[in-house]
Amino acid sequence: MTRVLHFLAGLLNRLVAMPDEDGSLVRHAPSVPIREIAHRFWPYARPYRFWLGVSFLLILLVPAITAAQIWMFKLVIDQVLVPKDFGPFVWIAATYLGLTILAGIVSFADSYLSVWIGQRFLLDLRTSVFRHVQGLSLSFFERSRLGDLLARLTGDVSAIETFVLSGVTRAVAYAAQIAVFAGLLFYLQWELALTALLVVPFVWLAARYFTRLVKQASREKRRRSGALSAVAEESLANAQLVQAYDRQETEVDRFHRQNVATLEAELAATRVKAVFSPVIDVMKVSVALTVIGLGTWELQQGRLTLGGLIVFLTYLGMLYSPIKGASRLTNSLFAATAGAERIIEVLDEQPAVADRQCGKPLGRAEGLVEFQYVSFFYGRNVRNALTDVTFTVQPGETVALVGRSGAGKSTLAKLLLRFYDPAWGSIRLDGIDLRDLRLESLRANIALVLQETLVFEGTIRDNIAYGKSHASERDVIRAAMQADADEFISRLPDGYDTLIGQRGRKLSGGQAQRVAIARAMIREAPVLILDEPTTGLDAESAQKILGPLRRLMSGRTTIVITHNLLTVHEADKIVVLDEGKVVETGIHAELLARGGTYAELYGLHRPPEPQPQLSAVQYR
Ligand SMILES: Nc1ncnc2c1ncn2[C@@H]1O[C@H](COP(=O)(O)OP(=O)(O)O)[C@@H](O)[C@H]1O
Ligand SMILES: [Mg+2]
Repeated sequence: MTRVLHFLAGLLNRLVAMPDEDGSLVRHAPSVPIREIAHRFWPYARPYRFWLGVSFLLILLVPAITAAQIWMFKLVIDQVLVPKDFGPFVWIAATYLGLTILAGIVSFADSYLSVWIGQRFLLDLRTSVFRHVQGLSLSFFERSRLGDLLARLTGDVSAIETFVLSGVTRAVAYAAQIAVFAGLLFYLQWELALTALLVVPFVWLAARYFTRLVKQASREKRRRSGALSAVAEESLANAQLVQAYDRQETEVDRFHRQNVATLEAELAATRVKAVFSPVIDVMKVSVALTVIGLGTWELQQGRLTLGGLIVFLTYLGMLYSPIKGASRLTNSLFAATAGAERIIEVLDEQPAVADRQCGKPLGRAEGLVEFQYVSFFYGRNVRNALTDVTFTVQPGETVALVGRSGAGKSTLAKLLLRFYDPAWGSIRLDGIDLRDLRLESLRANIALVLQETLVFEGTIRDNIAYGKSHASERDVIRAAMQADADEFISRLPDGYDTLIGQRGRKLSGGQAQRVAIARAMIREAPVLILDEPTTGLDAESAQKILGPLRRLMSGRTTIVITHNLLTVHEADKIVVLDEGKVVETGIHAELLARGGTYAELYGLHRPPEPQPQLSAVQYR
């Protein structure tokens, strides 16, 4: 006997075992108490509390109507079938029909209302999580995996809906069903009811045991499916790289491994859930058989009518489903907490760059930009990306930043945009420290053109108008003309309505860059940052965008990071960076004469015979 029990216990253990650690790429979210989850997310449900109340009322009505319908059976058996009397049948049938119609109406209203509330809640929550993520600093996006973030915005947000709304609604529904049916059992025959309900604590204990396991399994499942989408996203986003280096098999391998890990977690979760149901079923059948046995005796004693016994069994059957449901509900609530934990983790993420409430608003700036002893390092990096960088750009001036790759030029641009704050020193616009400015006023004063042109999927018009809210059609066309883009756009079959594919695949490099220049143009900002705007282009395209760039730069404070000699020649000042430090400043001729880093950079790549069309050649 003990050996059999031992064997069964071992089997059960094996069935509900968790999968091994898979070295997943996504880390565990911290465990958060249920009370905190409710506290965090209830505000999103609060606007719907009236309709939630209505929905609760409907939920209470449902078991009452069902119980009445079942009671009709007792009447049919005891007053029609047993006495073989047709008389009462007509009114019983009419009542039954009426109840069925009522049940239909209530259940329609109930289902629709609860979905309506749930979807509204989801809409609000998802939008607000998205807004929060949009507000996070660049450092967050550099740290997190896009795929995992997407999984959180979709699946995990729905899990919270389960937790806060449908979960609670179902809990109320189950409680109402249990109260109604258990009450009726006691009303019919209290001794029999007591016997039948003795088993409830055991069902509950079993449920608690499984709940713990399911919580564990569900969390693992979510975590691993987050990792799966992260792997897929990374690999597909780099399709070109993958194919060029013929690494498809490696990618498939990586995807497969992550997929297997997901599968193991899924199977483990399924095993746990699947073992639970049969265990409950065995308990249920034993009780039903006991009741039939005892009920027959009660029937003989005349303490219960035939209709009473049948209806008793029916009510008893109705009772198990909410009890089982309630314990399952605790499971799905725990599964939902896993999702909620991952959302809370995102919501707790604070922007590294804080927009102070008391920040000064700034209208249109004059455009005086000052860097004073600016030092900066990235996250855990020990080496400074910038050290004691000091220079000033007068309003309307153009400063060229040059230096080897990795010297810290783009980092300076990111600091001026306040994607990060300097570790030491300060950056000022019109004499005001950037940290004292409203983020929004700072960025409204800056326009940006980068090396890798950022274009969105959408029409050319949308892409240009993105530079300024409420840009008019005239603004868009004027900007396009100034950027020398109007001509090629007009030649496209759909003109400004042409859809540029994802990441602008349908435009050539030079065309995309001119769209980007038009976007910067439309912004009409006094400060302009150009980060290697010609680097990705061939000599001819680079030459072609110089005109538009000059037009863009005129009258604006410009910081241009460049390898393009022509732009450097025209700069009012050149700042040479090396390993994060300013090593030289001056104009082209001075710096060449000095024979330092700049001369070295310039000399290294000096074209043998300077020719006009070669003046756009890039050097590093
Ligand atoms: N997001 C980042 N996280 C960590 N280190 C970075 C990051 N971006 C740049 N760096 C490092 O900071 C230094 C300066 O980079 P960057 O400003 O991009 O150089 P440049 O634009 O002059 O080529 C480099 O050593 C680079 O590796
Ligand atoms: Mg750079």
